Amino acid sequence: MEILDGKKISNQIKDEIAAEVAKMKENGEKVPHLAAIIVGNDGASLTYVGSKVRSCKRVGFESTLVQMPSTTSEVELLKKIKELNKNTDIDGFIVQLPLPDQIDTQKVIMAIDPDKDVDGFHPTNFGKMALDMSTFIPATPFGILELLERYGVETQGKHTVVIGRSHIVGRPMSILMGRKGFPGNSTVTLTHSRTKNITQITSQADIIISALGVPKFLKAEMVKDDVVIIDVGITRVPDDTKEKGYYITGDVDFEHVSKKASYITPVPGGVGPMTIAMLMKNTLLARERHRSRK
Ligand code: GUN
Repeated sequence: MEILDGKKISNQIKDEIAAEVAKMKENGEKVPHLAAIIVGNDGASLTYVGSKVRSCKRVGFESTLVQMPSTTSEVELLKKIKELNKNTDIDGFIVQLPLPDQIDTQKVIMAIDPDKDVDGFHPTNFGKMALDMSTFIPATPFGILELLERYGVETQGKHTVVIGRSHIVGRPMSILMGRKGFPGNSTVTLTHSRTKNITQITSQADIIISALGVPKFLKAEMVKDDVVIIDVGITRVPDDTKEKGYYITGDVDFEHVSKKASYITPVPGGVGPMTIAMLMKNTLLARERHRSRK
């Protein structure tokens, strides 16, 4: 069994990006600038956005954090998005999800300029992705592809089972793994909460990508020997014995499943850090695109 070490690979990617940014600086060029909007005080979201901003610093990007209260109206958020769309200093921005109930997430995503949509959530970018056109690929799926590629995990002709159909991970992942090329060329099954006999499906999988958010959902009895496991789940489980009051766990019963797997991502330290590295990569791509246009 080999660990797919997202922490290590994400650091390599950030080093590569930092080298690109250093070259830009040497040439007197503008460096990439990422902005992040966060609405409300959700602990996990604040942690993620904090990591994104810290990573910008690490690779030499400029960053702007826009914090808005949980009572923010949809109109106010849309106004802020318009401002960021117009601001030529900002190459790309994200709106951290989930948003409070009074705000329609789809409306918000539709308001983002597709050229600045470094999350790849806008229908224009999602459509381009599905049609194999060059675009921003959502950071988590992009990070999973990068991990598979850098470890040389064979995907061609394999049966990939994706668990969860979220717009951010499961749905795009199911499309990307079936694309022509590497990583891709998989035969894909997309499973979700209404899937019947899921064990029958997972036990036939060569590769399982789980993005469900149910701690330790995937058990050793549900997988075959030598399976490749990508665990996207990051759930905070309350635990008074821990300093933070919780511990983090994935969708996979790592202790037992890892004994059968050929490759497996740990949680934390697997997919999570890759997501952030690929957001940096998308922001660098956004800058490069804007440079060539000007
Ligand atoms: N919430 C969970 N994952 C993500 C992500 O990749 N981007 C944004 N904007 N929000 C998220």
